Amino acid sequence: MIGVFDSGIGGLTLLKEMRHTLPHENFLYYADTENVPYSYKSTEQIKEYVEKAVIFLRNEGCKAIVLACNTATNVTIEYLREKYDFPIIAIQPAVKVAFDNNSENKRILACATPVTLKADRFEKLINSLDINHLVDRLQLPSLVEFAENEQFDSPEVLKYLKKEFSKFNLENYKYVVLGCTHFTYFEKLIQENFPTLQPVDGNEGTARHLKNTLASLNLISHEKGSVRFAESGKYVKDETRFLRYLNRES
Ligand code: DGL
Repeated sequence: MIGVFDSGIGGLTLLKEMRHTLPHENFLYYADTENVPYSYKSTEQIKEYVEKAVIFLRNEGCKAIVLACNTATNVTIEYLREKYDFPIIAIQPAVKVAFDNNSENKRILACATPVTLKADRFEKLINSLDINHLVDRLQLPSLVEFAENEQFDSPEVLKYLKKEFSKFNLENYKYVVLGCTHFTYFEKLIQENFPTLQPVDGNEGTARHLKNTLASLNLISHEKGSVRFAESGKYVKDETRFLRYLNRES
């Protein structure tokens, strides 16, 4: 079984990709519903929540754990990898994907939660790639709440995005990095309303990385493949809400 962690329902966008890449794996998805959003929590609090979830998933028998939460990755991954010796795969904002395809040297808008944008790890990532200073940062914490409330294309979401994006001259930008798994739910809305921007996220790369890691450790499963859900330390009985997000067309 593979444990997948997010503060809420954002990581289901990555789970969907991983089920596609690894259809024979059993997944246990953990949403920290009691504490979402993490956007305004302290680093110490987030560390505590994430470690609790990781221990729960490991105790349930997970052979590997995926942090499907950029915020969790940016403030906990070094700590967790130092402390635990099982494989922990972690999503991070797909800034490199944007750079790898940016032959025209256009500007890149890196969107994430305030915690991610302030993290040293994120700063190091940007510094290692952004030699020509092409990246601008934009925090979009309200998108987390819109997604948790299943508001994917309401006039309120669009108004919020228009207001936030109006801080930039979008003609100079090519890529918008969706550096929070909750933001992937708004990919279509962005494409339709801001056609010059190309959204990129880390879901595909993380799923590929998980597959390669499992293969290198001889841990790939050949079972039927299943998915279960837990919320803040308890198994979910009524899975309707989770399945609705997971089966959403994106
Ligand atoms: N989904 C999370 C991420 O990828 C964070 C959402 C939150 O603020 O809790 O960053």
